[in-house]
Amino acid sequence: MSAGALGAGFWKPGFARGAQSNPAIAKAIEAVKAAIPKAQADPDRPVYHFRPPAQWNNDPNGTIFYRGWHHLFYQHNPYEAKWGHMHWGHARSRDLVNWEHLPIALWPSLERGEEHVYSGGAIAGPDGRPVLFYTSIGQRDPEQWLALPTDDDLITWEKYPGNPVVSLKHHGALKVDSWRDPFLFREAGRTFMVTGGNLGQRGGYAAVQLYEAQDRQLTQWKHLGPIFRHPDRSVRNIECPNFFKLNGKWVLLISPHRPVEYFVGDFDLARNRFVPETQGVLDPGDDYASNVSFDDRGQCILWLWARTNTPPEKGWNSAMALPRVLTIGEDGHLRQTPVPALATLRGPESSMANLLLEKKTVPLGEKASGDCLELDVTFEITTARSVGLRVRCSSDGKRATEIAFEPGSGMLTVESRKGYVGRDKKLHLRVFLDKRLMEVYANDGAGAMLIALAGEPADQGLELLARNGTATLRSLQAWNMKPATFSLEHF
Ligand code: FRU
Repeated sequence: MSAGALGAGFWKPGFARGAQSNPAIAKAIEAVKAAIPKAQADPDRPVYHFRPPAQWNNDPNGTIFYRGWHHLFYQHNPYEAKWGHMHWGHARSRDLVNWEHLPIALWPSLERGEEHVYSGGAIAGPDGRPVLFYTSIGQRDPEQWLALPTDDDLITWEKYPGNPVVSLKHHGALKVDSWRDPFLFREAGRTFMVTGGNLGQRGGYAAVQLYEAQDRQLTQWKHLGPIFRHPDRSVRNIECPNFFKLNGKWVLLISPHRPVEYFVGDFDLARNRFVPETQGVLDPGDDYASNVSFDDRGQCILWLWARTNTPPEKGWNSAMALPRVLTIGEDGHLRQTPVPALATLRGPESSMANLLLEKKTVPLGEKASGDCLELDVTFEITTARSVGLRVRCSSDGKRATEIAFEPGSGMLTVESRKGYVGRDKKLHLRVFLDKRLMEVYANDGAGAMLIALAGEPADQGLELLARNGTATLRSLQAWNMKPATFSLEHF
């Protein structure tokens, strides 16, 4: 992309040019660009889930809404479609559906012994512009580093010369292992950071540490102590803690090397103690490493890494889960619903209503099929022991992924994953099929599951299912989903 091609009005000092004048970033972007044709040629690649231009991504990082844009940074290997050489990729969106890829934001400063730029968070700095905190990894102890933008599009980043801003020394005698993944929040005019890790030999606890900024520039920090220790002693470590206020309560999300868990409760600021009241698994599927942001209406947006385990030869590997609006239900548990703007991708619709299901499975045939669909389905269960759908069925019926609900237990099962969605005789499912990825939302977000699908591109069939009894399909709507746009104009 030449400067001229960017067009008048867009080309202003700092946009793109700054990032490309950094040789480490220019080299990384060239490596990603070289892999784009291969990634684009793969028919299995999701088309409306966010993904980098090519190569590898893992965790969402530094998610923040600023000046009308949702900024998404992410763990990114520009050189291969597998984990390594951690940089921070960057993209922005106005509607949480269509994206502009922007130049890679953060790179490992090899000359300073930094080998990886690990996960972290964003928060408004003293002048209102977001700043980024991340874990700097090298042949030394992990350190928390600060990076500052030089422009309002958040394209070009500089590392604070006084880094690290937090080091293991801040903990005094407390030994924290696997210490990483800063997340920032403000409360009562004060600025705080939490980090993950564990207390190793001195307790075997997975724990979340709390720190408070001592200056407006966010360069001086004080360790306040652990605010959380995992109640399950078999959990050895916590990654990517997110701690934030939602509907008057405090929410802690953690990635404990198994599906993301949440705890909802109260935060006693005077005693630095978080007291959880409810807890649960956020999503028992293939996603991990959460982050959150708050939009201009105060809505909490949840971000998750969608692990696809794609063979690296394909030039891409992983994506992000659909952004979800996070709320707390009346029962004190979290609710997750995909952002409403996804409806803008709906294409032609087909629908059915009031169909008695008494056979084991009912193929939908021409009525609805595909690998890029949104489905909205309501069942009323009379005597059936389980109801649901089979998606991505092969034409011989041998291969399929089954989504099954058992009213007796209230459990929704997809492949080997199970989640409790309520013991009702009525089931409402929203299913998003996007090539290798599927997301299932049950009963207004009481359950959410992201699954990386196996199967062949030709497996496009859909079937309804009711086992051991009868049920009624009250309604089914199916939309073909259009691809989201991923502009490379400013990459
Ligand atoms: C979670 C994680 C983080 C770490 C990052 C490295 O997936 O392991 O703890 O910062 O990935 O890429």
